Amino acid sequence: MGEKRKLRLGTFLGGTGGNIASWRHPDAVADAAINLNYYKDLVEKAERAKLDLVFIGDGLYISEKSHPNFLNRFEPLTLLAALAGETSHIGLVATLSTTYSEPFNVARQFASIDHISNGRAGWNVVTSPLEKSALNFSKTEHPKHDLRYRIAEEFVQVTKGLWDSWEDDAFIRDKEKGIFFDPEKMHRLNHKGEFFSVEGPLNISRSKQGHPVIFQAGSSEAGKTLAAKVADAVFTNHESIAAAKEFYEDVKNRAVTFGRSRDQILIFPGVNIIVGETEAEAERKYEEIANLVDIDVALNYLGRYFNDIDFKQYPLDEPFPDLGDFGAEGWKSTTEKLKKLAKEENLTLRQVAQRVTTPKGGSTFIGTPVQIANTLQEWFEEGAADGFMICPSVLPNGLDDFIHYVLPILQERELFRTEYEHDTLRGNLGLPKPVNRYSKTKAKAST
Ligand SMILES: Cc1cc2nc3c(=O)[nH]c(=O)nc-3n(C[C@H](O)[C@H](O)[C@H](O)COP(=O)(O)O)c2cc1C
Repeated sequence: MGEKRKLRLGTFLGGTGGNIASWRHPDAVADAAINLNYYKDLVEKAERAKLDLVFIGDGLYISEKSHPNFLNRFEPLTLLAALAGETSHIGLVATLSTTYSEPFNVARQFASIDHISNGRAGWNVVTSPLEKSALNFSKTEHPKHDLRYRIAEEFVQVTKGLWDSWEDDAFIRDKEKGIFFDPEKMHRLNHKGEFFSVEGPLNISRSKQGHPVIFQAGSSEAGKTLAAKVADAVFTNHESIAAAKEFYEDVKNRAVTFGRSRDQILIFPGVNIIVGETEAEAERKYEEIANLVDIDVALNYLGRYFNDIDFKQYPLDEPFPDLGDFGAEGWKSTTEKLKKLAKEENLTLRQVAQRVTTPKGGSTFIGTPVQIANTLQEWFEEGAADGFMICPSVLPNGLDDFIHYVLPILQERELFRTEYEHDTLRGNLGLPKPVNRYSKTKAKAST
């Protein structure tokens, strides 16, 4: 009998939490997004709970209308470097854009975090949906959605190639003989592609887990294809178990068409959990959070998905305005989903803004510990998820509640570990260590 399949669990750590008004919550630490001790506490807590990973999002453009957590926050990789020293087993995943970076820098930065953490780094590959990001990178135009994904694919392939610059036994460091490395085991990538030209080698070796774990976030057709080709895991978001199942099947099937196995790519829907000892208490907690969000703030938040459109120009209690293609080049899959939802359910602008900022149902699970555990188990066993990204509306109490109330039930049901199996992120996620492409070629040639 094989081991029972276990849930993988990560938690999204972003300042005071996902809700745009979370900083106003009585339990929130108002300067959280720039408070290292606060992050240390959270990540230590997550590690004591044996979570697989913590996940840090990012963005490259802010305005007066941005989520307060985005206005004044740490650069994710710098934060991970600090957190790596505080922890020993939990995975550390950070977001970095393929649209506004260079593969050589990114390969080097993540390889460094992977060494510093002893094999626990992960990279969330994003294509940067915010169109005005271009203005911060000496560009006048943000590349279109399709182009960003084409760039992303080549970017990740180059990065992976750079990570294999050194075979695992390349560094001999024989003081007697004066041999530092074996030149046969150092490899230049010599990549010349459509967007990048990179000679290599990278000036850092592979870590204990081979390559950092690649996450991908972005759910359009192009996003799913990119994930299926290059990612080890996908961070996604769904309105219902049915939609999550469809996405899960779709991405796994695509991976198979690219010669990969279904187990080589793990799907993590983001879920927001509001738990109370009773249903009434959970509902009260939800209301407490919802009441923090006033409608102007909600409209600002919604506008961010639609290239910062000013929604205040539209009547609040009339049907969601027809925006044509607006937003399609930025948060494509998200804006398409919102437009579809508004149409199907005949929602007003106010209702859409509320759905986005204080959702109920969908991937927001509100209830007692057993109800929440049942829902997670259902999504897991019905083929909607390999694990979840816990995205609390308010931190730290959203994470505390999940750990205190729900996790023990999942452990009791043997759906989640009570001890780490490994000390690398790949090991704990059950993902194989990638074989160095050059060692592989040599092994093949000698058989
Ligand atoms: C669940 C999820 C999380 C995301 N997180 C980030 C993020 O932290 N930073 C970022 O710049 N983009 C993030 N993105 C944006 C995507 O990388 C992508 O640019 C955007 O969703 C448009 O692509 P799509 O139409 O394929 O979804 C996220 C997208 C999704 C669906």
